[in-house]
Amino acid sequence: MASSAAFLALSVLVALHLCCCHGQTDAAGSSSDVTAIYSLGDSITDTGNLIKEAPPGMFETIKHLPYGVTFGYPTGRCSDGLLMIDFLAQDLGLPFLNPYLGKNKSFDHGVNFAVAGATAMDPADQFNGRFFMPFSSNSLKVQLRWFKDFMKSSFNTDEDIRKRLQSSLVLIGEIGGNDYNYALFGKTNVTEVEKLIPGVVQTIVDAAKEVLEMGASRVIIPGNFPIGCMPTYLTSKGSSQPSDYDSMGCLKELNLFAAKHNTRLQRAIADDLRPSYPSASIAYADYFNSFLAILNTADSLGFDESSTKKACCGAGGEYNYDWRRMCGAKGTAACAEPEKYVSWDGIHMTQAAYRAMSRLVYHGRYLQPQILNLGELS
Ligand SMILES: *[C@@H]1O[C@H](CO)[C@@H](O)[C@H](O)[C@H]1NC(C)=O
Ligand SMILES: *[C@@H]1O[C@H](CO)[C@@H](O)[C@H](O)[C@H]1NC(C)=O
Repeated sequence: MASSAAFLALSVLVALHLCCCHGQTDAAGSSSDVTAIYSLGDSITDTGNLIKEAPPGMFETIKHLPYGVTFGYPTGRCSDGLLMIDFLAQDLGLPFLNPYLGKNKSFDHGVNFAVAGATAMDPADQFNGRFFMPFSSNSLKVQLRWFKDFMKSSFNTDEDIRKRLQSSLVLIGEIGGNDYNYALFGKTNVTEVEKLIPGVVQTIVDAAKEVLEMGASRVIIPGNFPIGCMPTYLTSKGSSQPSDYDSMGCLKELNLFAAKHNTRLQRAIADDLRPSYPSASIAYADYFNSFLAILNTADSLGFDESSTKKACCGAGGEYNYDWRRMCGAKGTAACAEPEKYVSWDGIHMTQAAYRAMSRLVYHGRYLQPQILNLGELS
């Protein structure tokens, strides 16, 4: 199985190469002149930074199978295979984005600065010692500094950087989800955690302004997922009150919380970012409603309808999730058909779900406005 998966991965790479040559001649619309992607974010987009940086013994599970099982081998992605950013790169006719911390890689078509576990706010600014903070200091501020250092060392002048960014796409997020996760896992109630929203949103907006100031012409800023539908929260914040759940079986309070973050972020994009940079295309990626659309049409998308809120890889409980035995730990196993599951490990999604998301967002109506014009996929 491993070797057939490896063969598949190879085929994907070969297909990608072909795709790349096509892209340059055939692609229509404004996306055809995207020659590079620069990405800041967390585990939703990390293609291998955390595993380069994690101290020995930490985050061991993502360095090993079953992480990467669909791809053929572990890549540092928090999934069984590819992420949304990979499908995006592929659809733009570009190679997969290399992680910034991966030494000796090509950065000709962009860089991925996203690090799993990263927060939007600096730990020092946000947590004030009040919340448990796991390892990770690669906040958005740190990633932004990497981005600037990289651009300065790669191009001679600010004008050259500007020129490069004119033909690039910059992705800022998803980020901020971990700011809330750490607080919520630390048993802080939702009312308290809501107080973090203004600071988190402002941090994201400030980062976008710096990138726009450098000359970025296309920026995508995703919002948060409906976290009340995730196995980790359904397990840790489960309730005996049926009224705490919506018609899809998700926790209402947590989805409402994520929606509040998203509303504030969208308002800041509309009222602050776009008026300040009228010549740039700035889009909000609606991960919240595209995810709900997947849950609502799971069957027709090829997912097992009865397993949309169960982790494919894990152990125990109604949602196949137990934080003491997470995917990759002793006593856990991956499901036989990850492509039938939405959730990979209770926190992150499967390749199949990320593919479905990327179609809805990058090819559909959940990128607002649709600045890529990649066309609908059947
Ligand atoms: C990096 O790549 C260069 C050129 O491809 C090669 O000569 C060098 O040995 C590589 N270094 C490492 C550490 O792999
Ligand atoms: C949330 O926590 C704060 C601080 O501990 C407390 O004052 C407040 O009453 C709590 N709210 C709810 C709804 O439990």
